[in-house]
Amino acid sequence: MVDVRTDFKGRSFIAEKDFTRSELEALIDFSAELKAQKRAGTAHRYCAGQNIALLFEKASTRTRCAFVVAAVDLGAHPEFLGMNDVQLGKKESVEDTAKVLGRMFDGIQFRGYAQSDVEELAQYAGVPVWNGLTDQWHPTQMLADFLTVKEHFGTLQGITFTYCGDGRNNMANSLLVTGAKLGVNMRICAPESLQPEPWVIELAQDISAREGGGNQLMITADVDKAVADADVLYTDVWVSMGEEDQFAQRTCLLLPYQVNADMMARTGKDSTIFLHCLPAFHDTKTEYGRHIYKEFGLEAMEVSDEVFRSPQSLVFDQAENRMHTIKAVIAATMGSF
Ligand code: CP
Ligand code: NVA
Repeated sequence: MVDVRTDFKGRSFIAEKDFTRSELEALIDFSAELKAQKRAGTAHRYCAGQNIALLFEKASTRTRCAFVVAAVDLGAHPEFLGMNDVQLGKKESVEDTAKVLGRMFDGIQFRGYAQSDVEELAQYAGVPVWNGLTDQWHPTQMLADFLTVKEHFGTLQGITFTYCGDGRNNMANSLLVTGAKLGVNMRICAPESLQPEPWVIELAQDISAREGGGNQLMITADVDKAVADADVLYTDVWVSMGEEDQFAQRTCLLLPYQVNADMMARTGKDSTIFLHCLPAFHDTKTEYGRHIYKEFGLEAMEVSDEVFRSPQSLVFDQAENRMHTIKAVIAATMGSF
């Protein structure tokens, strides 16, 4: 039996594969507990007097705000450190930065490009380091996503979960591996050139065989096969942060994988929900959205506005859950109970 109040103390949260199924389940259930405490107005200042550093190499709305609000609710002080604020990379190595921050802060969040950077921070900081997204994984997002699915369906075991779109980005990697672990039938639907790298598929297959409780994994370019009977349809942006020169190419490749009303109907179920980690290009109210409309006449990219705004879309519950789940990670790894 995993005890969230003791078993995570001092540990970093760098990649889902480093945690057992029971550990991830315990963090999801603890998030639900903290969400209920917040709703009830019950104080949960498990990190009173502590300080956390929020290092961001890439932009963020949800992850940054979730860490700030979670830290304050827990009684900790969050300090935002953007790339123009610190010496990291330009004048100071990751190792030296880790050693300095570790002397002053009780925990460090890192969002950036290289997974090796967050690993190096964790190696040298001497305090818990949390991965707020790298090019490879987005582990805190996973807790929010599977909490949202569990809240809605009451269980994760046996749920059929289809991700459609860019199948080799951080979200696809994390969903495949985490779903494999949590007993979800995980399907990645993407054109062949954008399917997960073989080592990620092998990792997920190995995890599924050991911990998945008989779940099935599917990697396919065939939309009909991928969406049939799906309980969850999930997508992410076609172009991730750092790849902004790829819009034209990706739009051509991924248009058949857009989540729209027709794709929702092809699940054969009325009960299918729609999820997206956000931000989403579902209309022309963004700079990139307008650019794509001008170039291709497309009013939406990865998800139609109709599906995004439909009752089946739980994207804002999911966004709220970022805060409760990140709070669980901070409290479990750094808190006193
Ligand atoms: N989903 C997510 O990580 O959002 P941000 O990029 O806004 O943090
Ligand atoms: N794949 C996206 C996820 C954003 C939360 C990106 O890396 O930009």
